[in-house]
Amino acid sequence: MSFSGEESTQLTHQLRSLHDGILVGIGTVLSDDPQLTVRQWSGSNPQPIVLDSSLRTPRAAKICHHPDKQCWILTVSPGVESHGEQVDILAVDSANVDQQQVPLEAAMSLLKERGIKSLMVEGGATVITAFLKARLADALVLTVAPRIVGGYKAVGDLQAEGCDDQLRIHPLHCASAGSDLIVWGDFQYGGTDR
Ligand SMILES: NC(=O)c1ccc[n+]([C@@H]2O[C@H](COP(=O)([O-])OP(=O)(O)OC[C@H]3O[C@@H](n4cnc5c(N)ncnc54)[C@H](OP(=O)(O)O)[C@@H]3O)[C@@H](O)[C@H]2O)c1
Repeated sequence: MSFSGEESTQLTHQLRSLHDGILVGIGTVLSDDPQLTVRQWSGSNPQPIVLDSSLRTPRAAKICHHPDKQCWILTVSPGVESHGEQVDILAVDSANVDQQQVPLEAAMSLLKERGIKSLMVEGGATVITAFLKARLADALVLTVAPRIVGGYKAVGDLQAEGCDDQLRIHPLHCASAGSDLIVWGDFQYGGTDR
């Protein structure tokens, strides 16, 4: 279910068009089945990318039937190919043999090698939290819709693994988009630029 209005949805699609890649976690694929394409703006589709350690992406998922791109699935489960030519399964090497999930730093290096110089991370909460903990996110764009939704946690606990309360957004900007509020700015980790 989307809470965003038309204007902020257009902004989201504009942002998609300005990035080389767009990444979500498998949780978002399973719950929302997003297309991750640019539809309400004029521009190119970014490369769709999923973090999916144990290859749970359904063959019928919309991102596996993208209009002009083969979806990249970043995984730690090599050798299992059940999606045919619809997806490109990329096993990400990890220095840690016990790594259960896709190691983000190595994944970002792999994406850069493949020409992805700018990446939009569109969720969900688990993946956004992991990027913040790893200090891999440069900037935030937040859409605030005029609704109260109980029980949804947009970002998990950051304090447990060294990402303390110094995670700030500066400079902070805001503007309205229809009935929504857009807040954006650069992340400042530990009070310094990354
Ligand atoms: N409001 C919005 O704009 C928005 C946008 C997107 C999603 N959402 C909502 O977010 C919810 C889904 O979020 P979610 O937190 O359940 O799932 P998620 O963040 O989309 O995906 C999390 C999964 O990604 C996989 N993953 C692989 N490598 C990872 C890594 N290094 N770090 C973290 N995760 C990694 C893990 O599954 P494996 O271990 O199986 O790989 C993990 O469980 C849905 O309710 C959706 O509607 C909201």
